[in-house]
Amino acid sequence: MSKTRTLHRCLECGAVSARWAGRCATCQAWNSIVEEVEPVGRSAGLAHPAPSTVVGLGAVQADRALPVPTGVGELDRVLGGGFVPGSISLLGGEPGIGKSTLLLHVAASWAATGRTVLYVCAEESTAQVGRRAARLGAVHDSVLLTSETSLPSVLAAVDQIGPELLVVDSIQTVIDPEVGPAPGTVAQVRDGAARLTRLAKERGIAVVLVGHVTKEGSLAGPRVLEHVVDTVLSFEGDRHHALRFVRAVKHRFGATGELGVFEMTERGLVGVPDASGLFLADRCAGVPGSVVVPAVEGQRPILVEVQALVAQSPLAMPRRSVQGLDQGRVSLLLAVLEHRCGLTLAKQDGFVSLVGGLHLDDPGTDLAVAVAVASAAWNRSVPRDLVVCGEVGLAGELRQVSQVGRRLSEAARLGFRRAVVPRNVPAVDGIELLPASDLRQALSLAVARNA
Ligand code: TYD
Ligand code: MG
Repeated sequence: MSKTRTLHRCLECGAVSARWAGRCATCQAWNSIVEEVEPVGRSAGLAHPAPSTVVGLGAVQADRALPVPTGVGELDRVLGGGFVPGSISLLGGEPGIGKSTLLLHVAASWAATGRTVLYVCAEESTAQVGRRAARLGAVHDSVLLTSETSLPSVLAAVDQIGPELLVVDSIQTVIDPEVGPAPGTVAQVRDGAARLTRLAKERGIAVVLVGHVTKEGSLAGPRVLEHVVDTVLSFEGDRHHALRFVRAVKHRFGATGELGVFEMTERGLVGVPDASGLFLADRCAGVPGSVVVPAVEGQRPILVEVQALVAQSPLAMPRRSVQGLDQGRVSLLLAVLEHRCGLTLAKQDGFVSLVGGLHLDDPGTDLAVAVAVASAAWNRSVPRDLVVCGEVGLAGELRQVSQVGRRLSEAARLGFRRAVVPRNVPAVDGIELLPASDLRQALSLAVARNA
């Protein structure tokens, strides 16, 4: 007879505790702990089971793991080629960002290459999805739709149809009646993902799950889902802007950090292979507080504008507002500006933003933030043919950043002629380097101070 034990798991961080609590002791999230029942001691007292099949590493058929292109160029860039047969991926993003649209494009392209796709639209009716596919020009007879929400029925359909790609849109709406009646619970989502993972491995089909994320950016449902799947794709963007970004947060078959850029149009998502130009399209060069940084995401260079505005504050605690960059990092840079360069902002509101709805973690943007703030505070503009790039240390020193050659070549391609960079950066054709050892020197090169 199998025994069970009750444990308590945090939905945010997955930590397990013996007792229920209103707040998770590990990640401090409120109301995130749920009760789970788990079987224990199943193998206690049993004889050793039959050994599993083992195989020499050299004898493994490596070609079986080759990715199949999705047909959507920007997505293939992120995936390092495409979806791998036998793998399971999760596409996470806020509701309405364009997940279903992207996967309809993928389904139609796979079908166009003679493969069968089963699209489980558990959130919408087949008629709704059909109409949308027609508008996108993504109609193909080998894309089979079902609005089934029961997981066992989905598995039966896969058995019957034998698709090469299975899309489950979304994992939060399919249910296994054996697990419980309500969709979207931790147990449902985890059990569903685990069963679909087994299905992917056993039948060698590529499975893509859609998962909604909450406003805070975490997956609604257990974080554990991220451990189950092979690839976690994050779909981001500002719903008020047309630009959308896809990144691989986790990827068992290639590099993470690659960025895919799309534009949401009336006819669906259109890939933007030359993103740099787009981010600079509305730039007002020559305005104090604006500077361009050659950033990189994965292997991809992108030129983006950092803007800052500094204004006398009526408040005792001046406001600090940051968009598209890490708030803590910007605070640190303001402190460095104050202590190492004598720029006092204690009585001023400060706003820093990365233009275009993109979010970057690239340390190479440090210098651009500092230059934009100084340029705004001193009301002196940065020359329009100049870019800045470098990481800023706590002592105010300027540090090297990765892939500097690639960054500067992209800047040169887009017409920039000068770059303030850390010392010892190798020469790049078409761009004059202005090396600086610290922030103070970089500021004097990029923004000459008012007399
Ligand atoms: P959708 O793919 O349904 O988002 P998700 O599956 O992530 O919830 O797309 C949502 C939005 O995209 C919708 O509000 C309208 C917009 N959209 C377009 O602008 N053009 C299009 O061609 C389509 C299909 C959607
Ligand atoms: Mg959807």
